[in-house]
Amino acid sequence: MPEQRTVLVAPAWPYANGPRHIGHVAGFAVPADVLARFERLRGSRVLMASGTDEHGTPITYESDKQGVAPREFVDRNNAVIVEDLRRLGMTYDIFTRTTTANHYRVTQDLFLRLYEKGYLVKKTQMGAFDPESGRTLPDRYIEGKCPICGYPEARGDQCDNCGNQLDPIDLINPHQRGSDKPVEFRETEHFFFDLPALGDQLKEWIEKHDNWRPNVRKYSLEFVRNLKPRAITRDLDWGVPVPLPGWEDNPHKKIYVWFDAVIGYLSASIEWAIQRGKPEVWKDWWQNKDAWHYYVMGKDNITFHTVLWPAILMGVGDLDLPDEIVASEYLNMSGKKFSTSRGQVIYVRDMLDRYDPDALRYYLMIAGPENQDTDFTWSEFVRRNNDELVATWGNLVHRTLVNAHRNFGAVPEAGDLTAADQALIKDVETALDDVAQQLQEARFQNALKLAMTTAAKVNVYLGTEQPWHTIKTDRARAGTVLYVALRCVDNLKTMLTPFLPFSSQRLHRSLGYDDVIAPQPEVRQHSEDGDSHTVITGDYPIANRWLPSQLEPGTKLPPPEALFKRLDEVVEEEQAASS
Ligand code: MF3
Ligand code: ZN
Repeated sequence: MPEQRTVLVAPAWPYANGPRHIGHVAGFAVPADVLARFERLRGSRVLMASGTDEHGTPITYESDKQGVAPREFVDRNNAVIVEDLRRLGMTYDIFTRTTTANHYRVTQDLFLRLYEKGYLVKKTQMGAFDPESGRTLPDRYIEGKCPICGYPEARGDQCDNCGNQLDPIDLINPHQRGSDKPVEFRETEHFFFDLPALGDQLKEWIEKHDNWRPNVRKYSLEFVRNLKPRAITRDLDWGVPVPLPGWEDNPHKKIYVWFDAVIGYLSASIEWAIQRGKPEVWKDWWQNKDAWHYYVMGKDNITFHTVLWPAILMGVGDLDLPDEIVASEYLNMSGKKFSTSRGQVIYVRDMLDRYDPDALRYYLMIAGPENQDTDFTWSEFVRRNNDELVATWGNLVHRTLVNAHRNFGAVPEAGDLTAADQALIKDVETALDDVAQQLQEARFQNALKLAMTTAAKVNVYLGTEQPWHTIKTDRARAGTVLYVALRCVDNLKTMLTPFLPFSSQRLHRSLGYDDVIAPQPEVRQHSEDGDSHTVITGDYPIANRWLPSQLEPGTKLPPPEALFKRLDEVVEEEQAASS
């Protein structure tokens, strides 16, 4: 193990526009939590910082539709999302909001620093307006054909099909979303971020990252080949005010939501440091060339994290750039994207009302869209749960613990180890290292498959050794076999804890430990200048625990509990009937 690493885990900020569905959390949430938990387990100093993204047209579009003020709308949805993420076991050090005074201050500060360095230029642009009312039409309110891939329902800001960022004026056949009302383009003044000025630096920086997943790198390089100055203010009345004379008090001009949202990673880190009573400690993550920064997101977020945010950081000059971009593909249902508006959706809260969070986390990590778009199916959810969690891992744990507890009440003494005993222990310890290597590279499915095939090997060993028979004739040998199996289970527990924190903590207790290896987050209030907002946070112990099991013979074993529940095929039918 190298010396202690300092790790920033930066999960993308979910829009505060409704509850999260399982496609969302497959992208930004569960993979990030797996990384954070893994790094803490092996002793790294981790800061996982994020929050709800509460500005921009994704918010105003929905709040308009529902007839509520944006403020009330984001308050409501922040609470809903906080609950989704807490129940999922997301160990954020801080999960805050982009509507805090701290975030406004940091965003405006970075804006001004870029402005003073000449990276922000004022220009007149064509803006979209509704010819009838004269109101400005934000990018999201405009639809048309994507000029890049031809997708007919691309939005003015982005194409959901190819993921490219767009400008409304580039759309073919632009019209107002959800109607054929026309769009009129008129002149309006805005600040543009001079991305081309940073183009060479960006290109070189992306090229040097051969650790990135190939799609991330390819996509980002294509993007920087054709950089244009990007408008970072908008004709909107909801957002961070533009901190310049003549602009600050104009209620109709605000900073572009993506410009403020990406700055959230830094502002949340600063808020966390202030709340911990060490206001400078964020620098250990942001001004430390040895710190490692993981950004975790769905693929439609890639260029914001590989181009826009790095450009801001480069322009400002004294802050660290991303190291790893962990971008997943899409989780679909029957080949179609999850879509709240089309009602094709499975919400996290509904899943968690019915099933254990570990069952959902497991499915998303083993069968989710890590490397390609994948389809969620109920039958596969049931099968993964029953065949893998219950029949492979749960059964191994159950057989081992029940036999050890019933016959010994404690971790049995080991006699001489046979060649088979030693080989198994060695295999499992090797897997512990290999899983760490895979996790460090964010290859979650490799890591999880390796852990599960290792569990299957230990099952085979138990099936061969049959300690439940041997106990009748040779108690010492049965004790040795159970000791070996317990040690292997203990190591497998370590490998699986980042993925399955709820059941792993129960197993940890069943193995006779009384401390916490899989902490859970809490919801608290942070106050600043009389303003108070909700955060997810927690006190998560860092421990050097990613080490081979040293289970002590003689350690008392409490009565074991079942780790997972079998799901009936009925569940599947129920789901089919209700959807
Ligand atoms: N809110 C965006 C989305 O849901 C993600 C913002 S990530 C950040 O797609 F980098 F801007 F924070
Ligand atoms: Zn497209």
